[in-house]
Amino acid sequence: MTSYYNGFPQSDCDKEISMINLDELEERAKEVMPEGAYYYIASGSENEWTWRNNTTAFNHFQIVPRALTDMDNPSLETEFMGLKLKTPVMIAPIACHGIAHKDAEVATQKGAQAAGALFSSSTYANKSVEEIAKAAPGAPRFFQLYLSKDWDFNEMVLTAVKKAGYQGIFLTIDALVSGFREANLRTKFAYPVPLDFFTRYQGGKGEGQTVAQMYASSAQKIGPADVQRIKEISGLPVFVKGISCAEDAYLAIGAGADGVYVTNHGGREVDSGPATIDVLPEIAKAVNHRVPLIFDSGVRRGSHVFKALALGADLVGIGRPYLYGLALGGAKGVQSVIEQLNKELLIDMQLTGCKTVADIKHAKLTHFDYTADNLRSNTDPSRIVPYPVTAENQLQEADTDTATGASQR
Ligand code: FNR
Ligand code: LAC
Repeated sequence: MTSYYNGFPQSDCDKEISMINLDELEERAKEVMPEGAYYYIASGSENEWTWRNNTTAFNHFQIVPRALTDMDNPSLETEFMGLKLKTPVMIAPIACHGIAHKDAEVATQKGAQAAGALFSSSTYANKSVEEIAKAAPGAPRFFQLYLSKDWDFNEMVLTAVKKAGYQGIFLTIDALVSGFREANLRTKFAYPVPLDFFTRYQGGKGEGQTVAQMYASSAQKIGPADVQRIKEISGLPVFVKGISCAEDAYLAIGAGADGVYVTNHGGREVDSGPATIDVLPEIAKAVNHRVPLIFDSGVRRGSHVFKALALGADLVGIGRPYLYGLALGGAKGVQSVIEQLNKELLIDMQLTGCKTVADIKHAKLTHFDYTADNLRSNTDPSRIVPYPVTAENQLQEADTDTATGASQR
C-alpha cells in the first residue's frame, strides 16, 4: 500500500518480512521506492570503493569454530550505559525515514523497541523527538546531533531531546561536509518530506533541501571543547560518532566523551578510506575499555556482528538494511531485519561456545590472508577457455579412422 506526501509516495504497510538474508532487501526495496530516495540510500561517495569494502573486509577476519564447549541456548541479551537490551544490534541514525514510510522514525522506533534494540534518531529526522518518544515510552533511544553553526539551534535541539527522555547523544563528526555523492547529483535528490527540527526552528522545512545544503547549515569546525558544551547543555552522555583512527579516539576520550562510535558513515563520506572493521582493532586498543565502543558500516550478517564484538565493539549498528526493511514492512519490517541478524548471530554463538555477548569478546578470530587462495582452480568450468580453433589444429577428414575416430597421424 502507498500513501503520499505532496505527491511523494510512501509505504504505509506494517508486516513481517520473510527473507533469506539482508542482501536481498536492497533489490526488493528498489522495486517499491522512488528512484531518488532509493539511490540516496543505496549509494556511497565517489567510486563507492569504501562502501563496498566495508562489507567485503569482514572476510579479513575468520571466526574459529569451537566444539566440546558443553553449552547451549546462547543469549543475545546485553547491557549498555545501564540500558537492558535484547540484542547487541542497534539502529544507526539515518536521516529522513519518511522517504521509506509514512510513519518514518516513529515506525523505526517501534520496530527497534519490539526487537529490544537501541534506537537512534537523526537531527535530520522527519518526526519530532517528542512523537518518537511517545510512540515507545521508555524504549532505549539515543539522539544523533549534527552540530549547527547556530548555538541557539543547538540549545533548542538538545533541550528538546533531554526533555523527551532520550538517554544519550551521538555527536557526528565525520560529515562536516557532504561526501561527493554522485547518485544524488544524478537523481537530483532533495529531502521530499519536512525535517522536524528545521521546520520548528529555522523556518525552512528542510524539505526540498539537498544533502549538501543541509550539511552546509551544520558546523564544519568541531573541536574537543564542543563535546563538553554539548554534555553541559544536554546533561546526557555524549558518544563521538565518526571515529576511523586511534588518534581521534584518544582526542574524543580526552575531550570527555562518554563513548566512541567507530564508523565511516557507511562509505558516504571519504571514499577510499579503510573499511571500519579493519581499523577497529587499533581503535579498540586505544580505547582500552575506558569507555563503551559502538561499531557500524557494512554490517550485513550475524557473523559481521560477531566479528565486530570480538574485535572490541559493545554494540553493532546497522544502517541501510533497516531502511529497506522500513520501506518493505514498516515497523515489523525493521524488527524482521534485526531479528534476521539475531538468528545468524545465535548460530555463530552456538558454534563457537559463546553463551553470552560478553563471551564473544573472548572468541578466537584469525586474520589469515586468503586472497591468493581465492583464485579459481584450473579445472573450474568458468576458467576453461576453449582451445583456440585454427586451420592447423583441427582434425582433417582423412586423418580419422572411421571405426575409432582416432587420428592416423
Ligand atoms: C546515514 N548515516 C547518518 N549518520 C548520521 O550520523 N546522521 C545521519 O543523519 C545519517 N544519515 C544517513 C542516511 C543514509 C541514507 C545512510 C545510508 C546513512 C550513517 C549511518 O548512521 C551509519 O553510519 C551507516 O549507515 C552505517 O553503514 P551501513 O550499515 O548503512 O552500511
Ligand atoms: C547522509 C547524511 C544525512 O549520509 O548523514 O545522507
